[in-house]
Amino acid sequence: MAAVILDGKKTAEKIKAGLKSKVESLKKKGVTPGLAAILVGNNPSSQLYVKLKQQACDEAGIYSVKHELPEDSSEADLIKLIGKLNSDERIHGILVQMPLPKHISVKNVVKAIKPGKDVDGFNPFNNGAVMDGEEFLVSATPKGVIRLLEEYGIGLESKEVVVVNHTIVLGRPLSMLLMNRNATVIVCNHKTLDLKKHTLQADVIISGAGVPGLIKKDMVQEGCVVVDAGISFVEGKVVGDVDFEKVREKASYITPVPGGVGPMTIAMLLENTILAAAK
Ligand code: GUN
Repeated sequence: MAAVILDGKKTAEKIKAGLKSKVESLKKKGVTPGLAAILVGNNPSSQLYVKLKQQACDEAGIYSVKHELPEDSSEADLIKLIGKLNSDERIHGILVQMPLPKHISVKNVVKAIKPGKDVDGFNPFNNGAVMDGEEFLVSATPKGVIRLLEEYGIGLESKEVVVVNHTIVLGRPLSMLLMNRNATVIVCNHKTLDLKKHTLQADVIISGAGVPGLIKKDMVQEGCVVVDAGISFVEGKVVGDVDFEKVREKASYITPVPGGVGPMTIAMLLENTILAAAK
């Protein structure tokens, strides 16, 4: 039986419509939510992501501002800008688009963002809260994955979930969110010796390796839920990690790329900005 498509685009539109009315009621109280996006260097994908995030802010009525720094900016320059935004009253959320140039420490940068304005949820304070079962400013991609599953009524309790990514952007916070929902979690990475051994056991696979075609039909069991958070560009087209056309023949639910996790990430960033502004 062909899988049900987990439509991230449609779900994100529904969520964003709800957020728009939250923005309106905040504005009536004299608060306009504000997001500052910082872009370091000329990475074309990062430029596109920031543009999409700003467009989504405009549509929701959120004030947004973009700060572009040259590729050779120092870590100190970036941290100084974050310091200014930390004390700017119009700004409730700060996001530093990743990846950063190699000479800048991601750890130092995310630590410099005031936890209450850390709408990416990368700061150790917010990550620590998630680890403790408290979910306030939660990283947007993992939060979007969980929300998409919830919107389709897919429970996670007692499920065996295999996550293929162990970064701060996806796998680490996602594993905590899954544990908070009493899932059994296996987190794989690029050094995992036998990925198929793990994925074949999974009730849910969430992959964000950035390796096109990584998850093949013979790696999933019948009825598995497959979430593709991978993004790669192949011949000018955006593709995920999953061999979508083949795997959908076996899965019960599956996300497309594009139109799956990506739009959910943006909706969750807006939600976090509104949460930060409301607080
Ligand atoms: N790069 C890839 N995903 C993300 C994200 O969610 N936030 C930021 N800031 N950068 C990213």
